[in-house]
Amino acid sequence: MRILAVGDVVGRPGRRAIARWLPGLVDEHQPDLVIVNGENLRAGRGIDAPGLTDLFDAGADVVTTGNHVWAHRSAEKLLEEFPRVLRPANLPEPCPGRGAVVVPTEAGVRVAVINLLGRVFMTPCDCPFRTADRLLERLGREADVVVVDFHAEATSEKKALALHLDGRVAAVFGTHTHVPTADAQVLPGGTGFLTDLGMTGPHDSVIGLDSEVALRRFLAARPVPQAVAEGGLGLHGAVFEIDEGSGRSTEVVRVARGGGGR
Ligand SMILES: [Fe+2]
Ligand SMILES: [Fe+2]
Repeated sequence: MRILAVGDVVGRPGRRAIARWLPGLVDEHQPDLVIVNGENLRAGRGIDAPGLTDLFDAGADVVTTGNHVWAHRSAEKLLEEFPRVLRPANLPEPCPGRGAVVVPTEAGVRVAVINLLGRVFMTPCDCPFRTADRLLERLGREADVVVVDFHAEATSEKKALALHLDGRVAAVFGTHTHVPTADAQVLPGGTGFLTDLGMTGPHDSVIGLDSEVALRRFLAARPVPQAVAEGGLGLHGAVFEIDEGSGRSTEVVRVARGGGGR
């Protein structure tokens, strides 16, 4: 089976990039499941119903999020309305929404998607390593294939989690940095891994933010209102080829469309 994962969709430009390229990628790669990170859907931070609907209409099966999931108060309600939208699983309980979901593919393969948040250079949360261990005890029985979106800043933490889970999950892919990494690989135990998928949105920017605003923030060292950039639309992601019998990956290939580099 094949899973297509798409990096953080940023604002309206990101939604336009999804509409422009996701259906074609689905035609080309015929994935059994499409996972899209939507944490920046709503003007760069958080989620909203129109944005989520756009992602699902374009072919997403599961939407993951990250540190910006609670940017708007409506998120709690949205997580109830959209059962296939995840928030990180390692947020302190009790917590609205869910951090993992099991989705059956058309071919009848049960795929568990887990969303985790890193702790290095991020807001405090529970241990992603131990949360994954706990979830796998249950999901190992409920699913044939398990994949993890690890929303984290530090490349070291991402690689370490992937090695911690190597052989126990089919894939670990990173999100959050908005910059794709060139390390697509299958780890020794059979876990497909990529440190970061990259970004889907305006690449004539500083990771999605209007370049002038971003520069003013750095130069002035004072808060400057956020503004999503417009130009250089591009989509970044990766395709994981997975043997559903063993639950392990055989190949990982990055995909990219439009601006933002290859
Ligand atoms: Fe992001
Ligand atoms: Fe993030």
